[in-house]
Amino acid sequence: MTIFPLSNLLILLGITAGGVAFFLLKKVLAERERNLDQIKDQTLEWNRRLEAEVSKRTRDLESTHRNLEAAYLETVTALVEAMTAKDNYLGDHSHNVSHYAGVIAEEMGLAGERIERLKMGCELHDLGKIAIPDSILLKPGPLTPEEFEVIKQHPVWGARILEPLTFMRDITEMVNQEHERWDGKGYPRGLRGDRIRLEARIIAVADAIDAMTSHRPYRKSVSLDEVAAELKRNAGSQFDPQATEAAVSAIEKGILTVRSNTNH
Ligand SMILES: [Fe+2]
Repeated sequence: MTIFPLSNLLILLGITAGGVAFFLLKKVLAERERNLDQIKDQTLEWNRRLEAEVSKRTRDLESTHRNLEAAYLETVTALVEAMTAKDNYLGDHSHNVSHYAGVIAEEMGLAGERIERLKMGCELHDLGKIAIPDSILLKPGPLTPEEFEVIKQHPVWGARILEPLTFMRDITEMVNQEHERWDGKGYPRGLRGDRIRLEARIIAVADAIDAMTSHRPYRKSVSLDEVAAELKRNAGSQFDPQATEAAVSAIEKGILTVRSNTNH
């Protein structure tokens, strides 16, 4: 009878133990892989749900934004109508300023939404005149210094009316700053140079163009050549030199022409 050597027995036991360990390890690894696959599937599912939720929220936000824009347009229209009802001239004047400002802005290279907002600012630039007493606003003759001080408050009133509309903050600033001057001698705050919003500097030039080209009971209108000369004379003092240059260039090219008023 052959006796199985102890050393061989130990080797056999070692091999068996190794095989069992390998089998167990493989089982554990397979289990881990299954778990990882489950986690991967779960993550993909969560991502899909998250994407669906995000696109739903985006759609909701877009719809809210559209409603807000519609409300915005209605608000602006109502404000412009209230202003026009107070003084016919103001309605025409605002449309004209909007037109001139648009031409100047395009000449300066502005475009799209920025010009649309600028035009909205123009339509509302004298909104604060709603708060000025008729005896001063509609006075046919020249104003006394005291009356002029009251008129000078209209940019503040305009901004105050628009202030609660936070989505119109840029337009509120245009309304508040349209009577500021490049040299800091304007009102209400005496802002200087590019501390004044660009759109407000453009409105100041457009406003002056309409004031000079409109027939008023107390003042005769002037030709566009005279307007261009007057703008050049005041560039760098009353007006932003770049906005002035753009306006003069548009006049010389024939892009900026006088708009006729319908209500007076
Ligand atoms: Fe004004």
